[in-house]
Amino acid sequence: MKITNDIYHIGVNDMKIDLFEGHYIVPEGMAYNSYAIMDTKVAIMDTVDRKFTHEWLDNISATLGKRKPDYLVVQHMEPDHSANIVNFLKAYPEATVVSSAKAFAMMKNFFGNEFEDRRIVVGEGSELSLGKHTLHFVTAPMVHWPEVIMTYDSCEKVLFSADGFGKFGAVNLDNVFEEDDWDCEARRYYFGIVGKYGAQVQAVLKKAATLEIDMICPLHGPVLKDDLGHYIKQYDTWSSYQAETDGILIAYTSVYGNTEKAVLKLADKLKANGCPKVSVVDLARSDMAEAVEDAFRYTKTVFATTTYNAGIFPYMREFIESLTERGYQNRTVAFIENGSWAPLAAKVMKGMLENSKNLVYAENTVRIVSALNEESEKQLDALAEELCREYIAAKEDYADKNDMKALFKIGYGLYAVTCSDGTRDNALIVNTVSQITSTPNRIAVCINKQNYSHHVIKKTGIMNLCCLSVDTPFEVFKSFGFRSGRNENKFENLDEPRSDNGLIFLSRYINAFMSLKVEQYVDFDTHGMFICTVTEARVISNRETMTYSYYFANVKPKPETEGKKGYVCKVCGYVYEGDNLPDDFVCPLCKHGPADFEKLT
Ligand code: FEO
Repeated sequence: MKITNDIYHIGVNDMKIDLFEGHYIVPEGMAYNSYAIMDTKVAIMDTVDRKFTHEWLDNISATLGKRKPDYLVVQHMEPDHSANIVNFLKAYPEATVVSSAKAFAMMKNFFGNEFEDRRIVVGEGSELSLGKHTLHFVTAPMVHWPEVIMTYDSCEKVLFSADGFGKFGAVNLDNVFEEDDWDCEARRYYFGIVGKYGAQVQAVLKKAATLEIDMICPLHGPVLKDDLGHYIKQYDTWSSYQAETDGILIAYTSVYGNTEKAVLKLADKLKANGCPKVSVVDLARSDMAEAVEDAFRYTKTVFATTTYNAGIFPYMREFIESLTERGYQNRTVAFIENGSWAPLAAKVMKGMLENSKNLVYAENTVRIVSALNEESEKQLDALAEELCREYIAAKEDYADKNDMKALFKIGYGLYAVTCSDGTRDNALIVNTVSQITSTPNRIAVCINKQNYSHHVIKKTGIMNLCCLSVDTPFEVFKSFGFRSGRNENKFENLDEPRSDNGLIFLSRYINAFMSLKVEQYVDFDTHGMFICTVTEARVISNRETMTYSYYFANVKPKPETEGKKGYVCKVCGYVYEGDNLPDDFVCPLCKHGPADFEKLT
């Protein structure tokens, strides 16, 4: 079929294939594309699978008529495209093979011949003139074999993309532009076959971005000419391991139906909580490649399986291995485990994912001991709520519009503020600091009036603001934050340096400090705000500033709440034992109020 003025599709369809690459089901068959470029010289772009030798050679002669091909360009040596190189060279003894050095080495392995007497070796930037058409070669190593080249025809602005932009399924040989739902089978093809090589695909996309492309001619699937931006965007999303669709995949195995029951309940709860797309896959009874594709497609995956031979059920093992070997990353994941006497599937699954980058693990794991019960049903509810937090929050009728935990999302840093009452140095930890003007530099520091430092700074009008860095150990927070400088000398036995204002600054665990002079004081009932100018400023290190969220995630030890009833302070771990936390309660350690306490359950 003619696809441009000078380019013809001469590929074939395989409608009898059972498994592509011996692995992937292809219910709609498979296309092996090949192209002829008719110019002063004639180039054939790739051969086809060995089962279609004569059909393909017939296509060549029908397209070329009395002419003979001058070149066979071999972009990829996987046998679905290279199997007929020798047959072609026998049919056309005058033709020359054009390919990469690595491909010729592979020809030696496949055919015992690397055609030294009739070949042109090309690499990055090589060109081959056919007359009007000039072919520009672009190397595409590991997309998805090392020898791959792509070819750009600058005359008709056509990119021959080898396996890139290919898909499962036969093509309409009378209209190779026809494409039904390209994304679906192109995605399954991409993640099945090319998925591991995201970085290499990104490198090729960068090269392609420098070319003016009107048409993409892949070795599988339809020829692409309309809305090329869409296909390129999809490849960019997939190869950068970003989620394509906001939604949740629940991938599960179930031996006697109890895990499945939990999965189906979770799916209903997720939908009820507003999740825009929920996909449920029984790994033992579904196409594994489809499940893999979905895991890369959606933002979140729930892994649900049974404990089996002190590990996990085999299909789940295969599934997770399929993900990790393809670079699974940048997703939220959650676990449902089942086990009749010692469930450990969640631990095993998490262990298998430990080298995957940027995974956010759900706080809630569902633990089923044989069958769902009241406790595991509650865990399902909690997981459904956690996974749908953003969907619930976006819903007008569901959202909690008075959730003050939102304030914790403000990006606070943590600081040690030093001061002196004239007889003793003091310090406290604050998170309420911000620069409010730059000319001059003005800093606002807010301090709880119950802290002795508030009293001292109000009297002396000076302080040092030390920016804590991420290496600060919990002991520093304990030492400066959880006791009062009125009663104790926080710098006893410490020999710290001093700035020009005479106050101490910390010699360790900070990346900068500023000496501040109070210009203005604003009374906020429980707190006072000091508006200050900067009298001295020094950068101490390049370490990252400690943030409030980093402190919670990485520094603060888990509070010892085992066997206790009451409320725990989320800031310092202090436990208030009692049924009701008074509204005006102030944590004796860190001085935070009831909003920072949570009930122990
Ligand atoms: Fe279509 Fe990588 O062979």
